[in-house]
Formats: sequence, C-alpha cells, structure tokens
Amino acid sequence: MKPIITLLLLLATVIPARSRSESRLVRHADGRATVMVDGSPYLIIGGETGNSKASCPADVEEVMDKAVAHGYNTVLIPVAWELIEPVKGQFDFSSVDTILASARRHGLKVVPLWFGAWKNSMSCYAPAWLKRDTKTYPRAMTSAGKPLEIASAFSPAVYEADAAAFKALLRHIADTDNDGTVIMLQIENEIGMLEDARDYSPLAQAEYDKGVPAELVNYLKKHKKSLHPSLLAKWRDAGMKTSGPWAEMLGDDIYTDEIFQAYAYALYVERLAQEARKIFPTMPLYVNAAMNSRGRVPGQYPSAGPLAHLKDIWHAGAPTVDILAPDLYDSGYVDWTAAYALPDNPLFIPEIRASRANPAQALYAVGEHGAVGLSPFAYNLRPGGEVAYQRQGNELLKSLSPLLFKTSADGCSRVATSGLYFDADSTTRTLTDGNLSIKASHYFTLPWDSRATDGSVWPATGGLILRLAPDDYIIAGTGIVLTFAPAQEGKVAAQGNEPVLGEDGFLLTGNGGAVGGKQSAASHPAKASRVKRIGLASVEEVEVGEDGSLRRIRTFNGDETHQGRHVRIGVDDFKVLRVRLYEY
Ligand code: DGJ
Repeated sequence: MKPIITLLLLLATVIPARSRSESRLVRHADGRATVMVDGSPYLIIGGETGNSKASCPADVEEVMDKAVAHGYNTVLIPVAWELIEPVKGQFDFSSVDTILASARRHGLKVVPLWFGAWKNSMSCYAPAWLKRDTKTYPRAMTSAGKPLEIASAFSPAVYEADAAAFKALLRHIADTDNDGTVIMLQIENEIGMLEDARDYSPLAQAEYDKGVPAELVNYLKKHKKSLHPSLLAKWRDAGMKTSGPWAEMLGDDIYTDEIFQAYAYALYVERLAQEARKIFPTMPLYVNAAMNSRGRVPGQYPSAGPLAHLKDIWHAGAPTVDILAPDLYDSGYVDWTAAYALPDNPLFIPEIRASRANPAQALYAVGEHGAVGLSPFAYNLRPGGEVAYQRQGNELLKSLSPLLFKTSADGCSRVATSGLYFDADSTTRTLTDGNLSIKASHYFTLPWDSRATDGSVWPATGGLILRLAPDDYIIAGTGIVLTFAPAQEGKVAAQGNEPVLGEDGFLLTGNGGAVGGKQSAASHPAKASRVKRIGLASVEEVEVGEDGSLRRIRTFNGDETHQGRHVRIGVDDFKVLRVRLYEY
C-alpha cells in the first residue's frame, strides 16, 4: 500500500469523525450574538445542576430526566478537577463520559463548567494533591498575611497544573464527543478574591510593584470611548496618567486593588481560553461572575471577577473569552441584564435563582437584549408541582426560535424584538414603534382583577414583542395585557389620563371617565378626531412551525379581548398571539 494511503487510513482510525460541526458564536453589529449549533441558531434554554450532581451516575441520570421535564434543551453541569485528576497526571474521565452519554440519550446539549482552580473564589475543587502541597501551589493571602483557600493566580505552578487538566479534559471531549453534544465552555466558576480586594502573597506583591502593564494602558487608551463609565471616571480622577504604579495611575483605593487583581485573573483565564481555542477553534467560551450587590465592597463580594464595571479589564486581559456572564440571585433583574447586555458583551445568564419567574425572565432577556440564553441554577431541586409551568414557558420560547433569527448562506441575523418584564414594582411599559404606541402591563393591572388588591403576590410576568409586518405583531408570553394606540395618543395615555373601564366596558367609577375626575384628553372629541385610532383587526393564538410558519389555533374576540380593546395572556398561561391592527 502506498504510504500516503496508509497514513490516511491510520488517521481515519485515530481521529473520530465528527458527524456535526462545532458550535460557534455569530456576532451581530449591535453587540448581540447568536450561538450556532449544527449550523442553526440556538437559544440556550437551559438549567444548571447542583454542584455535586456530576459525581454520581444515578444523580446525572436524574438531573437529565428533570431537564427534559423542564423543557430545557441544554444542561450546564460541573466537571470537577478533583474527579478527573485524583492523582497528579492520572486522568479519569468516567464522570465526563457519564454526563455526555446521559445527555445524548436525553436529547440534551451540554455546557461543561470547568471547576478547576477556582469555584466561587475558593479552590475547593482542586484535587487534594494540589491542596496539600501549598509550597508548590501557593495560596492567595490577605494583607495581614493570612493564607486563603484560594490558589494564587500569580503562581505559574498553579496555572500549569490547572491548564494540564483543562487541556486533557478538552482533548477527551474532542476525541469522544462525535455528535457535538458539548456546545459551549465555562472556564472556572465565579472567580474572585475574598476577604481582601487583591492577593497580597509574595508573588502577587512582586507583580503589583511592577506598576500598570503597558498592554493594559494601551488597551485603555485605545478603548477610551467605550470604557465603563466608572473606570473612565476613576482614571480621570487620578489624572489620566498613562504609566506608573497602580495606586498612582488609577487611585489609591481598594477599587484599584480590584482592577489589579482582575487583570491577573483575566490573563490567567486568557491562557486557558487560548488552549481551548487550539482544540475547539470556534466553540463559545465564557466566564461567570458573582454580583457586586447588596452594598458590599470588593473582598466582601468576590473581588475582581468578570463584573460589569471591570469589563474593560477583562476584555484587555482575556480577549479570547467571548462572554462575561452574570449569575443573578438578587433583585433588580431588569437592571442587571442591562448592565451586561453591552455593545461589547452579549448577554448570557448561566445562573439565575430558580423561581416561577424564570420563563418570563428568559423571554425578557431574549426579547429585549437578544440574549444567548438563560439557565436557572439547581433546577433539579424545584418541587415537581412547579415544573409544568416552567416547561410550558420553555417550550413556548423554543418554538419562537424560527421567528427570531434569519439565516443565510453566510450567517445569521437577529430579528428586532422587545422584551417585557413585570412585577408588583414595575407594572407597565409603553413602547413606540413608528407611529404606534404599545402599552404593555402586568395582568393584575386589569381594573377588575381582585388579585391586585386582595393581598395576592404579583407573580413576575413577561414576554416578547416581534413585528412581522406593519400592523402585524407577535406577542408571546405570560401574564400580560397590551393596548395599541397612535403614538400621539399613547403619550397622552402614558400621562395617566385614560378612562378606567370595567370588565363590561362601562366606566368603572362614573366620575367623568378619567382618573382624578378630569375628562381625558384622549377621549376629548376635538383632540381625538385629529389622529387616526388603532383597532384590533384580529387576534389569533398561533403555533409557530419549525419553518417559521404560523398555524392558527383559535381566534380571540369579545370578552377575551375586552370587546376589541386589548389583548391579554393570563398569569398561569403561556401563549403566542398574532395581532393584526387597523386604523380608523
Ligand atoms: C453560584 C455558584 O456559581 C454556584 O455554583 C452555586 O454555588 C450557587 N452560587 C449557589 O447559590
């Protein structure tokens, strides 16, 4: 046999044929991005398992079963360093094989979470051989010299050990995951320094004493226009210097310490990301952050993680990482999403507190920010009775996918959409689309809904609005009511002068037809006659086909649309409505 043929045959047996293409991230001009899986746009409608689930095959099977019950398409699941390298240099990938085989059987995609050198700041997932050998693998230290159970990011030995395991893991996945079950990689988990804003160990101090690296300064200079406002202000306040010690260039405070530490973490992660790129040239890579919330300062919260105010530091140090992702456990959902959905950072929410609100949160993130996906944490603990609602919401979001993306031979673009998210504190939003004003509200704002006042908890509700054509909209979601008006009239309504009608359409109070007893400008004949008004031509509940076609399920009218005045979806329901409008 000719040597070249022999070589080809040999390669064919050594390199397993990948039947599917590797996932990749398409970046859009507005900073949003789309994950492409098997060549098609893919929304990550996921769930993250509890931390220890991957260590037991029976638990893995159970979390996959539950993921299917939730209607998820993806499971985010830890890969623990201590499990894959229990003895230095000896790898055992059985936990990984179990995860991938089970996910495959369940028709799920997987995002492995590399619990390597750091998990929630700590190095608890490092193998015992590394933990015990603090001489070779030094710890981060507080300013008082107290060692922490946090491996120092400044230690070459820590990096080499972590990287060796990470590379071995990725090589194993590349060799065995022939159908592309793995679609994305998380590097480390909630990196961050605790107790102090930065590491004061001798290695860290030596680095600190060198001053701000020229590479970082160059990045800041080049990206001055897009720097996070807090970073720009900090730099300005310190005199906008372009070299020097950290405290002189950026100010002598713990936030500068945090920046120093963030740059070190980013450089460390960048090296891992580059290793990942050698094995998976296109697979999306991300890092996740614990939030700097509840009035805490760096060190009280995990300092220096990939936080919004440190985005430029992380981008400067870790350009190979695709997404800096927030883990959302605090209130203020809408504000948190806005802080991370940036022109230089697509939104992906790998962790969010598991709650009833999750489907509405996902619809909002996708609708408002074109999010790559959302994944509630420890979904496996959700009581069985709450799963059906989640499944309904997740299936609805999945079904919308063909409407959200337009694919072509050279890529994929994202259709413009808006998101809605309501609770007791934020009940209404008015959007303008050209000459149209769309007022969307929480379902409980219906004047006749007694749950607004009888002490009921206002569940979080939300949805997504997409324009198919002028006067032709898709409204999808749960617990929402929408009215349509000419933009001019909508402005008047937003000022709170609209008549309040009961369920029967009669004036609720009989006080002249307006809140506060004044006649509304919108209902004043002279003013109203100048603008064309908007009516509902038809309201249909539809099902979205895989090709984006719409199949009518039923038509709503009469009581179900308040005699043509609004469209609505109840709080225990998920629906896709097609609303056609007309002018009169
Ligand atoms: C955030 C971490 O990333 C998760 O692994 C888990 O520890 C949760 N916190 C627990 O709330």
